[in-house]
Amino acid sequence: MGLYSKYLLPTLTELAMRSRTLRPERARWVPLARGVVLEVGVGSGLNVPIYSGEVRKLYALDPSEELLRMARSRAARATFSVEFLCRPAEAIPLADGSVDDIVTTWTLCTIPDPVAALQEMRRVLRPEGRLIFVEHGRSPDPAVVRWQDRLTPLWQRVAGGCHLNRPIDRLLRSGGFEALEMNRGYVAGPQVGSYLYRGMARPVPGGRVPDTDAWAKKGIAHVE
Ligand SMILES: C[S@@+](CC[C@H](N)C(=O)[O-])C[C@H]1O[C@@H](n2cnc3c(N)ncnc32)[C@H](O)[C@@H]1O
Repeated sequence: MGLYSKYLLPTLTELAMRSRTLRPERARWVPLARGVVLEVGVGSGLNVPIYSGEVRKLYALDPSEELLRMARSRAARATFSVEFLCRPAEAIPLADGSVDDIVTTWTLCTIPDPVAALQEMRRVLRPEGRLIFVEHGRSPDPAVVRWQDRLTPLWQRVAGGCHLNRPIDRLLRSGGFEALEMNRGYVAGPQVGSYLYRGMARPVPGGRVPDTDAWAKKGIAHVE
């Protein structure tokens, strides 16, 4: 890992994710989680103070030790117990059906294999559990998508692997989830990075991943 990724990127990520624009989105969705909660890609722990009193325990998963160090100081003030898991979401070290709700915010853009990660989330979530998500991704506007596709290779390199162009709705389906609620739209900021998908999804019974969804594993749009 280079010096940029190890030292500068975690600080830049923390600063970017503290943006005021994102706060109302966190405040709207994160407090819906309850019981035993897994946050995937917890980063510097910006959601930790927002969880409601309905949370009993939080598993805080992220592969970045540097970001988890920042999250630990935020977790020190939490009223529920927090267990840190310094692991990638493609291999979640929890038992099947062991969590009530999962939260991801601005994380599916960065996970190298988002479908594998969603399948793991599905495995550890109990059958009635919910995946609560706030994610940025592929715009419905062809002109914006052209820029998202053009910029992603460069953006990935400077932004820790972030893709601007992932079709979050389709990734969710490929990972075995169906949306209970999905709100989409732009928030403030450049359109390439500000088209949000937010809502709740539940694991599909059986959760079979159709082979035809192979395109989604690459994080690109399906051309009908
Ligand atoms: C843009 S940051 C968002 C952080 C946090 N969710 C927030 O809302 O502030 C993306 C996060 O995804 C994490 N990440 C990268 N690869 C991952 C993986 N394979 N599994 C889980 N998280 C990952 C990064 O370490 C980083 O914390």
